[in-house]
Amino acid sequence: MSTVDAQVQSPIEGANQSATILQLAMAALRLTKVPGTDSNNNLQQRLRPVISLSEVAYHDCYDDCWIVLYDRVYDITNFLRLHPGGHDVLVENAGRDATIAFLNAGHSAMAIKSLKLYEIGELPPNECIYRCVGKLTLTNLPD
Ligand code: HEM
Repeated sequence: MSTVDAQVQSPIEGANQSATILQLAMAALRLTKVPGTDSNNNLQQRLRPVISLSEVAYHDCYDDCWIVLYDRVYDITNFLRLHPGGHDVLVENAGRDATIAFLNAGHSAMAIKSLKLYEIGELPPNECIYRCVGKLTLTNLPD
């Protein structure tokens, strides 16, 4: 058995126990991922609740305001009063897809990043218009 291929107990929490010294060295240099360490991210992506457009449509007022952006659903009820662009433009789009309005306002990278705070789910695949496999209509979609 060569020194490089020796099986070691991984010092990285949650990492696959059978990771080799070579795999750990490459992970340290950020050339690759240690097997077993990225499963949480994949799990999070798979666990987004699916919410249909017809359900979003029920939440269409100041006290209960959901919107759809880039095929994801956001509950922005508690954000309305804080929005730098005012609450009116948000209530006008309550209960529906506001992606084009959001894009036209020219939001900053910081605004796009803050979307995560309000995300509650995603549209079912047959209602998606931006995140369709092999059919992306926009570049730079938020994570
Ligand atoms: C959860 C959804 C939203 C978030 C987190 C958000 C966040 C923000 C933030 C942080 C700003 C300050 C400027 C910037 O950093 O870009 C802003 C400005 C603005 N937003 Fe939004 N926004 C949201 C949805 C929307 C929607 C749906 C519309 C349009 C209907 C809109 C229209 C505007 C406008 C017009 C401004 C400009 C205000 C000005 O510069 O006078 N926003 N938004």
